[in-house]
Amino acid sequence: MKKIAVLTSGGDSPGMNAAVRAVTRTACHFGYEVIGVEKGFNGLISADFRRLGKTDVSGIIQRGGTILRSARSEEFRTPEGRVKAAKNLKSEKVGALVVIGGDGSFRGATILAEEHGIEVVGIPGTIDNDLIGSDETIGYDTALNTAMDAIDNIRDTADAHERLFLVEVMGRHSGFIALETGIATGAELIILPEALKKTEEIKSSLRNTMQGKKRSTLVVIAEGEETGGAVRISSELEEDFGKYEMKVCILGHIQRGGSPTARDRVLSSRLGYEAVKAIYSGKTKVMVGIVNNEVKITPIENTFGKIKQINFDLLEMYKILR
Ligand code: F6P
Repeated sequence: MKKIAVLTSGGDSPGMNAAVRAVTRTACHFGYEVIGVEKGFNGLISADFRRLGKTDVSGIIQRGGTILRSARSEEFRTPEGRVKAAKNLKSEKVGALVVIGGDGSFRGATILAEEHGIEVVGIPGTIDNDLIGSDETIGYDTALNTAMDAIDNIRDTADAHERLFLVEVMGRHSGFIALETGIATGAELIILPEALKKTEEIKSSLRNTMQGKKRSTLVVIAEGEETGGAVRISSELEEDFGKYEMKVCILGHIQRGGSPTARDRVLSSRLGYEAVKAIYSGKTKVMVGIVNNEVKITPIENTFGKIKQINFDLLEMYKILR
């Protein structure tokens, strides 16, 4: 095998560039040619390829976003789209494809491997941290810190006006970001899909908090159908808590951008390096992850579709510390 292709797919996450750099440089070290695929699976379908050498990935370790760009490809969900993608990879004589992305991207990569025998290796890249097989995913730590900084700012103004703030963070169907930013910012209440609360419970919890001597109250809420998000919860609370000048703040995509933290840069570097080492030693159809600070190789089809559990001990802890 002489050629490795690499792409970034799905929602981008800070550290993807560092992973592309690590894949490229490790592959060059082992004597592979590297093909960068533009715009995720869309670029596989349209053969939007470019050669990557060691210096093409200079100066990107600190940059958010992804130099290869990303997409959620509708065409790749169709068998016809995947036929085109596989054909382009084969005519380019690509021996293995490295997919940096989240659960949807790994589902797509798994199907491509099953249908067309493409050798794929996944690198977990999503701010949601919802993939099985790695304690953390690329971008999660940066997103946490970005959300934490934003919520710290909100706390200042909330204190000044003695207000109640409902802050919505990302996470799609999982509460990792909500739980850890809630702890890190001393939120009075955290609402997440893994530990849903009825409106009455939320109200009584807020009443208890507000009877204390705190100046402001911060509620961190994970986005999505499960929790209802900050807007829906605020409408349910308006009648009882409107007098506190309740404010809703949705942090949104600012959590996906920005320069990756040191932890994310190191994680991305390790995973990029390990992905190429896996290919070199003939291990494909896997995802590389880090568990308890050790490299873990998991069959790619086992990394998505199941719920990665949050640490429920942390939930108990915050109830005492808040
Ligand atoms: O998967 C990462 C993520 O940022 C989720 O937290 C969020 O639900 C989703 O992507 C948003 O996707 P999009 O940018 O396509 O709206």
